[in-house]
Amino acid sequence: MPRIVSATAEAIKQSAALIVAGDIVVLPTETVYGLGANALDADAVAKIFKAKNRPNFNPLIIHVADKTQAQGYAEFDGIAHKIADLFWPTALTLILPLKKNSGIAANVTVGLKTIAVRVPNHKIMREVIKQSGVPIAAPSANNSGEPSATTPAHAAQSLGDNAPFILADGACDVGLESTILDLSGDVPTILRAGAVTFEALQAHLPNLQIDNVSKQSADEVKSPGQLLKHYAPSLPVRLNAVDVANGEALLAFGSVKFMSFKSGGHVKDMNKEAYKNLSEDGDLDEAAKNLFMMLRDLDCALHTGIAVMNIPDKGIGVAINERLSRAASQA
Ligand code: TXA
Ligand code: MG
Repeated sequence: MPRIVSATAEAIKQSAALIVAGDIVVLPTETVYGLGANALDADAVAKIFKAKNRPNFNPLIIHVADKTQAQGYAEFDGIAHKIADLFWPTALTLILPLKKNSGIAANVTVGLKTIAVRVPNHKIMREVIKQSGVPIAAPSANNSGEPSATTPAHAAQSLGDNAPFILADGACDVGLESTILDLSGDVPTILRAGAVTFEALQAHLPNLQIDNVSKQSADEVKSPGQLLKHYAPSLPVRLNAVDVANGEALLAFGSVKFMSFKSGGHVKDMNKEAYKNLSEDGDLDEAAKNLFMMLRDLDCALHTGIAVMNIPDKGIGVAINERLSRAASQA
């Protein structure tokens, strides 16, 4: 099994050295754990694709310390400067034109003319970036198609020996992957919902749009990874549940006062291991933080499926519902 190493100064230094040496390292961020490698080193990047079993057409996000470093790899126009200055560091990835002679390994962008860039707001991740001195390419630290890992244990469970070194810093604060905002075209477009909401971005981008992946044809796909069945546990997921079937686990949100079994009886008598509540207080930020963690915990042979209660479709709830509907899709 992989080594899970607590993020001491020594371990941070070691992680940066591993990145520079061309190895892959699981790193904490505020969104989800990432599987990082030197984005300037094609052989190192290839190890990411292999470890995750990631399709080779799905490009990676690079993580940098600040906008100045980002400008070495991506072209910024006026709008890009404005959004970066207003929001970074945070859970916001910008799709920008790839700079000529950027030195970014071709397998990071899989041949696209654009690059995904994020400045994370996580002390330890930022320290690893600074000490390594290179942009760090990092997808979520999970096997391709599985829910993202938000704890070191879940990264270890998902990647096993394919990720030999895990820099551990507990559970991720946000719990969902970053918002992806495409600023490379004529109209600013959200390609993936996240903690930085449509409303927050629209306040500065009046013509902001949301891309509906289902409306894209294969040759105009803007964010290849968004096409794949994603975030899926192995058990079937049933959304907007108002009751629970025998054998099902329950992922609740808010009060369960009116939740009962289809066959009769109240869910308060459920086995502890079959019942999790994303947020008893109905707090959407808390629910986002718990979502992948609880989905993974309920996803075991004890149950026949996972029933999920309705989540309000506002704020970060939009991103939660987007992940849940993919988890539930049988495609
Ligand atoms: O919060 C996050 O974004 C996490 C942490 C580790 O930073 N990373 C993450 O990476 O979620 P990943 O690889 O699981 O998702 C990245 C998404 C994929 O859907 C990919 O297709 C898209 O970003 N992407 C990457 N480069 C792109 C580009 N040039 N144009 C459009 N989409 C791009
Ligand atoms: Mg991912």
